[in-house]
Amino acid sequence: MHRPDHRAEPDGAPVPGTAQAPNPAAVVVLAAGEGKRMHSTTPKVLHEIAGRALLGHALHAAAALAPEHLVVVAGHGRDQVRDYLGVLAAELSREPMMAIQYEQRGTGHAVACAMDSVPTNVTGPVVITYGDVPLLDAATLRDLLTAHAVGGNAVTVLTAELDDPTGYGRVLRVGWDLTSGGAGTDPTGPDDDAPLAAIVEQTDASPAQLAVREVNSGVYVFEADVLRGGLSRLSAPGGTANAQGEQYLTDLVGIAHGDGLRVGAVRCTDPWLVVGVNDRVQLADVRAELNRRLLTHWMRAGVTVVDPGATWVDVGVRLAPDVTLLPGTQLHGTTSVAPGAKVGPDTTLTDCVVGAGASVVRTHGISSVIGDRANVGPFSYLRPGTRLGDAGKIGTFVEVKNSDIGAGTKIPHLTYVGDATIGEQSNVGCSSVFVNYDGVTKRRTVVGSHVRIGSDNTLVAPVTIGDGAYTGAGAVIRADVPPGSLAVSAGDQRVIEGWVARRRAGTPAALAAEKAAAHASPDAEELGPDSVFGEGSGETVGTGADTGRGHGSQLGPSTP
Ligand code: UD1
Ligand code: CA
Repeated sequence: MHRPDHRAEPDGAPVPGTAQAPNPAAVVVLAAGEGKRMHSTTPKVLHEIAGRALLGHALHAAAALAPEHLVVVAGHGRDQVRDYLGVLAAELSREPMMAIQYEQRGTGHAVACAMDSVPTNVTGPVVITYGDVPLLDAATLRDLLTAHAVGGNAVTVLTAELDDPTGYGRVLRVGWDLTSGGAGTDPTGPDDDAPLAAIVEQTDASPAQLAVREVNSGVYVFEADVLRGGLSRLSAPGGTANAQGEQYLTDLVGIAHGDGLRVGAVRCTDPWLVVGVNDRVQLADVRAELNRRLLTHWMRAGVTVVDPGATWVDVGVRLAPDVTLLPGTQLHGTTSVAPGAKVGPDTTLTDCVVGAGASVVRTHGISSVIGDRANVGPFSYLRPGTRLGDAGKIGTFVEVKNSDIGAGTKIPHLTYVGDATIGEQSNVGCSSVFVNYDGVTKRRTVVGSHVRIGSDNTLVAPVTIGDGAYTGAGAVIRADVPPGSLAVSAGDQRVIEGWVARRRAGTPAALAAEKAAAHASPDAEELGPDSVFGEGSGETVGTGADTGRGHGSQLGPSTP
């Protein structure tokens, strides 16, 4: 039989540290339900919020209690659940056990399945939680365990008072007149702290019981012996006399009370913590609430979030003080942002590292590293393995993959860089392509430091461009360029004067040419010298001086 004060060891000596929450003997996470209302091929508990499956949230909280046994009850989609538990084991540094409930015969039956995989001699508190209640935190569970220990309870229920208790089991405290259905008594009872007498399910409740606003969250602490004894009585013939023909775990409250055991409760003052997910509307609700809480945490830690409603962060994201997140920013996975960096607007980063003081504007990045004071965007695509050095730049309509880009190196416009290593302080001209794939094999391009790649270059890998080298506009580089040399490959320009008038007579182009010829004065100035190296700003490079004829004959695209 249950000891009134289970805090005493068999020899009567008190267990040290009972003022603190004791480590539970077991935590059981129920996750066998089908989740019909999700209309999904993915089991409900594997749907994600803030970068983690619902079940992952539940198990992180459960594992934080350091229970001796951590058991997940799976049923529907158990193969997918098993795979996920394998992934989660690394995060939790422990392997949760999986108990299978082949048929969903109620919460009592589910817990019985779990207890079958826990050694029968286990004693002490057993925590029951749900895999679809993602906001429940370890602190709340610890409070529940503490109240359970301090109260010397056989069972302790986490309850909540809801404005709309529809669908939940109602908590009936001692003093509530069970036989009359509560007629004439205040449903919440005169004594808010009275022990619990029973929990009655929505489908089995009288109209008066339905008026009770204190509900069962579905989270409990049971003494192991009370739990085992009660479950065996539920599964005995005639033990499931309820509207749904299921084995109700909640019936154990009435059973314990009837046995003269104390059933306590802790009212959860934050109803969000016990909200369960049954459909995708609730999934969106808890996702938004968790996001609000994460952003509130980061704002209090010194992060500016311009529009919290339009900013999303995963639980694994780390943000430093003086980071600014602009609207439309989504930070996923293990993304971290260092002090003073600005991210957004409209930027999605997954598993990225953003350096101090960097700026990342309208960018999509995956598994990439952005150096301190570097500039990315607007409209950049960083694919896995991009590493941009300090004060480097990946600019507008630039895609980079699996490449190291040295400090101070700039790739400002309209360029693809794949499988490259680029040194420091180099510049890649507008509209260049690192041709890394010959249709069969991917190869690397190596570019040194202080290199000036001309505009519209094609670098056909494998190729190496030495330190301090230049390449001409429009060059197709197929062979190595030694340090300090200029490589050109665009052919000489041929001009066929009067071609438009002869071959396109009468077209708007021909008329425009005619007009230009009429307006041209005989002493018209020649075109100014071409700006061979762009604006000297480390931006677009049009190295077109190779023929020595200059005068605008081989200009690369001009820098705006
Ligand atoms: C249950 C409680 C109710 C409480 C509510 C809180 C019972 C009888 N009722 O009701 O008092 O207010 O939770 O959300 O316990 N599950 C299994 N196997 C089963 C049945 C359920 O693993 O055979 C799991 C589900 O996957 C789910 C959880 O248990 O995670 C709760 O099951 P659900 O059917 O949602 O219980 P409710 O009827 O909502
Ligand atoms: Ca439910």
